[in-house]
Order: sequence, then structure tokens, then C-alpha cells
Amino acid sequence: MSDRIHTLSGYFHEYQKSIAQPEEFWARVADSFHWKKRWDKVLEWDFDGPDVKWFQNAKLNITENILERHLYTLGDRPAIIWEPNEPDEEGRTLTYKELYLEVCRFANVLLGKGVKKGDKVIIYMPMVPEAAIAMLACARVGAVHSVVFAGFSSTSLSDRINDCEAKMVLTSDGNFRGSKSIPVKAVVDEALEKTSTVESVIVYQRTKTEVDMKSGRDYWWHESLEGVSAENEAAEMDSEDLLFILYTSGSTGKPKGVVHTCGGYMVYSKYSFENVFQYSPGDVYWCTADIGWITGHSYIVYGPLLAGATSIMFEGVPTYPDAGRFWSIVDKYKVNQFYTAPTAIRALQAKGTDPIKPYSLKSLKVLGSVGEPINEEAWHWYHTHIGKTRCPIVDTWWQTETGGIMVSPLAGITPTKPAYATLPLPGVQLAIMDPEGNELTGNSVEGNLCIKFPWPGMIRTTYGDHERCKQTYFATYKNHYFTGDGVKRDHDGYYRILGRVDDVINVSGHRMGTAEVENAINEHPLVVESAVVGYPHQVKGQGIYAYVICDMKNRTKENLVGEIKDTVTKIIGPIAKPDKIQIVSGLPKTRSGKIMRRILRKVAEGNMDNLGDTSTLLDPEVVEQIIEGRVE
Ligand code: WTA
Repeated sequence: MSDRIHTLSGYFHEYQKSIAQPEEFWARVADSFHWKKRWDKVLEWDFDGPDVKWFQNAKLNITENILERHLYTLGDRPAIIWEPNEPDEEGRTLTYKELYLEVCRFANVLLGKGVKKGDKVIIYMPMVPEAAIAMLACARVGAVHSVVFAGFSSTSLSDRINDCEAKMVLTSDGNFRGSKSIPVKAVVDEALEKTSTVESVIVYQRTKTEVDMKSGRDYWWHESLEGVSAENEAAEMDSEDLLFILYTSGSTGKPKGVVHTCGGYMVYSKYSFENVFQYSPGDVYWCTADIGWITGHSYIVYGPLLAGATSIMFEGVPTYPDAGRFWSIVDKYKVNQFYTAPTAIRALQAKGTDPIKPYSLKSLKVLGSVGEPINEEAWHWYHTHIGKTRCPIVDTWWQTETGGIMVSPLAGITPTKPAYATLPLPGVQLAIMDPEGNELTGNSVEGNLCIKFPWPGMIRTTYGDHERCKQTYFATYKNHYFTGDGVKRDHDGYYRILGRVDDVINVSGHRMGTAEVENAINEHPLVVESAVVGYPHQVKGQGIYAYVICDMKNRTKENLVGEIKDTVTKIIGPIAKPDKIQIVSGLPKTRSGKIMRRILRKVAEGNMDNLGDTSTLLDPEVVEQIIEGRVE
């Protein structure tokens, strides 16, 4: 049942096959799943549309491939192990059998509340098993889930609800994160004042904080489940029916809803999971992401559960109650594969090695990294102190839009190189483009990363705005998907991701559009104009530096900076709060009025000797003032 590659020559062999005969290759992989009806055609595609269909006319339900499929063989194996925020609160384990019953019951709750195939359901929840149950119950009845990270503000939430016209919101009373308890339902209430499509809200009780419950709209999760049957037949979905929408930031305007569909995503998330992590039956696997991001979708929920793995879900943060928390969890559950983000590694690295000492970490076989380029120093620290030099590191490059891992070593098979994502997975046809749109062939080249052939997990559209999908990803280079990342292929043919080449910054592995942050800053009534750039940050990878022109009224600079930070927190959420705000009297602009971000980036980086040509600026003096007022 597994399509796992076992050797390096096996990888090259599979890769060649996947390029020479992609349809045969993916048909073979797809054959190991349970389809209610097999496909008529494996692939139909046109990147100009874009119009991509995998496993045409096949019928399936992804949850049957997670639940029914494993029921008799793995019924008693833990599917989800939940570790709560407080180390002394008891965790929970859901076996595949228990998960099956919970998903069926909650699917019946959804049906009872009138949720139908194609309806949109927003999930705004903490990291509790019910969040995964909610996703699967939606998939079970054919509803389209859209998980919104529970750290986003009410404005971000209402924007997403409105964009997909959600009918239901699944949420909790509150959320425990480290030493804090955060209100969640109150944020939903605020968001719902600005929306009109939501008919019901189901509230999971987690923190037992008092919340307002609106009669006829709001229901308690546990009460909704009372007396509900655990018998539920999975809806029959077309391979290209929507599975979920996940909003992500781009270089312009508001976040876009990346659409993934049932068949291709299922095949790709499981295939990539098994191969990259070299998952063996019985392994305990832990990904520390939040389900609000694509990593949580593909590699906490769908990929591992499709593979019949045991997936750990952690509610808390790496540094609570102390910086040894991750390692205590690894020892507690004998974790075999551990997958986290460079920002977490750097934050823990800063605490030294003492917090690691009490733990053996000897169960670990594979370490993973995702979300941003991992710097060599963090790579070596992870390799030496966590992997004890015996665990391969899989540096996995991918995106919300790709659905699954695209470039990565296969653990223990592909020789690794610090800071390199190494080689593409089978089925992934990369192309490096020069600024003129020519493909750079051969080794030792650097350019923009594109993909020139479809893969099953790829984005199908941006919800409600297909043109935007086309313009963002398929218009820059004809017949290519453009990733937005720069890349280098070295003399060995290994890939190293160099970071974004567009106006997207990557803060602690979270994508932020600079335009989105600027829009939020501009909401402050005294702000006239702003420009946001990224700069290298020790822990976060990139920090947010904002240049702001303000009408000072009778505020001090300090007051104003604080107010602007609060505004961004309120409009987007704390993750978008600028690290540095410089109040300026003007911005460097060309005569046509375009902000010269290159200059602002250099100043933010502290790289002032090398500003390049400033003679085309409308007002070159502005640059002097900006350099003088630079925030350290
Ligand atoms: C960046 C996260 C370097 C990249 C799965 C990409 C990486 C963006 C890596 C997608 C990596 C992700 N090395 N950069 N291993 N993984 N990125 O959509 O810039 O949240 O375009 O998906 O993160 O972020 P997203």
C-alpha cells in the first residue's frame, strides 16, 4: 500500500519515470487509494487558463481514505495524540476507531445544522483534536473548510468569512497559549457584526471562560453532540470538488483564498509525507505547526492520517513552561519524526543547550524544517544538539499553493547539505528563469523558481477570483507556475531557496504582504502614507520595518509608534505588528511617484554604503533624513 522510495537510485529511477510518463506515474500512486469510482483520465491541463484537472470524473471521499480504510487494520492505533498547553494536564489519545466515531458524529451535527455539500465552514479554533475532527467532518459531508489561524484579528476573520460567504463558524470559548489565556469567541462575535452569511456558530469549551451565546445562532459543541448517532455515510465527492480554501498573503491587496480539491490533494499529501519523512508503520510523528497554516493541513492532519500514522498535536508554545518543552514531548511520546520551523529552532538555540540536557531524544530518526530558509548556523545546531548528528534533516520547500512538499531530501536517502532543500520530489518539474523569461539550464545558475508541469497537489484557483490566480502565478512566465521565490542550483544540481523576490516578507515562517501591513498602518487616522519592508531578524528570519509619514498632532513619537502597532494588531493580528517604526517626513520616490523600496530595504538592513543610484529620485534629500533617523 506504500509507494515509499528506499534508496537513492530508487529515487532517481522514480523521478525519471515521473517525468517521462507523469500520468502513468501518478495513476500508479493513486491506485493505492480507495475511490468510489475510478477516473476516466489522469490529467488534463492548460497553464494559460489555468485549468488543471487531476483524476477526472473520479469519485471519492478523503475521509474514507483516512477512517474506513484504516478501521480494520489499524483501528486501535493512535491517530491523534494531543498534548495540552499545561504539562500536568492530562493529554488525549484518539485511536483510528475513536477518530472515526468522532468524525461521523460531528458530521451528523453539521448535517443537522443544515450544512450541505459545497457550503463553506470557517474553523477558528485552538490546537485541540476537535479542530482536526472539524476539518474531517467538513470533508466527510462535502463542506469546504477554511481554517483561520486563531491569532488573526476580528477584521481578518470577517474579511475571510465575507470572501467565501461562510455559513457556519466553528470556534472555542478561549485558547491557552503558554501563560496566556486568549479570548476566541469574543473575536468571532466582533467579526460577525460585519458579516451576514453565518447562520450558526458551534463553540467548543476549552478555557471555560464566560462568553456570550446568541440564542438561535450559537451552540455549545458538547450539547450539539448529545444523542447524535455515529453512523454517517461519507458524501461522494468529485475529484475536482473543493476540499478546502486557505487564505494566504500575496504581494498585493487582501489575502487570497487558495483552493485545493479532493483527489489530487489527497494523493499528493500522503505520497509526499511517506517519502520525505520515510514514515514506517508504527512511527510517532510530530509536526509543531498550527492547523491555521498549510503545514498543519497537509502534515498534521491529511498526509499523516492518510498514511495511517500517529500524529501529535500540541496546543502550546516551545518555551512554556520552559525552553525544554519540545524535547520533553519528544521523550514523552517517543517521537520518531519531528518537523518544525527555523524560527522555533533559532528561538531555542538562543536559550543554549541546558534546556535539552534532561532529555535523551533517542527516539528521533528524522528532523524536518519548513516555512523559510534555514540558515546554516541553525541547521548545524539542530543537527548537532537535537539530532545528535545521527538524524537526517529534511529542509522542505513548498507553499500554501503547492499543497505539499516540492523540494526536499528524502530522509536518510538524499545526501543533505546545510541550507539546501536539495532535490525535487518525483513529479515535480522545476525551472529556473532569468529576468527575460528564458529557462536557465545546467548547473551553477540562479534565478526565479518556476514549475513547468502540473502536480496533483497544486492550487486550482483563488476563490472567487480566477483572474487573480492567473495573474499572480501563471502570467509572469508563459506556461509556467511562478513561485515568487528566488533559487540557486549549485554545481551538484542541488537547489537552495534564496527567499521571496516579490513584496512578500516571511516573519517567523508566516507570509505577510507588505501592502497588507501598509494598508493596516494607514488605517490609523494620523497616518498619511507608509512603506513596509523586511529586514534580517535574528530569531524571526525577517522582521517588519515600517516607514511612516504622519500628522503628529500633539502626540509624541513614542505614543504614535505604540498606537500604530496597536492598529496593525487590531486590523490583522499580533503576527503582523511592525518590529520597527520610523516616523519620516517623506519617502524616496521616483519622478513617477513609485516608492523606491530597494533604498528602504537597504537602510532597514543597515547597508547604507551601497544605496545604488539615487539620482532619479524626486527628492534625494529624503534619503539623508531617513538614514539619520534609522531605528536600530
Ligand atoms: C518560504 C509554507 C526556504 C518560501 C509551507 C515560500 C521556504 C513560502 C521553505 C511559502 C524552505 C517555505 N526554504 N523557504 N524550506 N519553506 N519557504 O505558503 O518563500 O506559508 O514561498 O507555506 O515560505 O509559505 P507558506
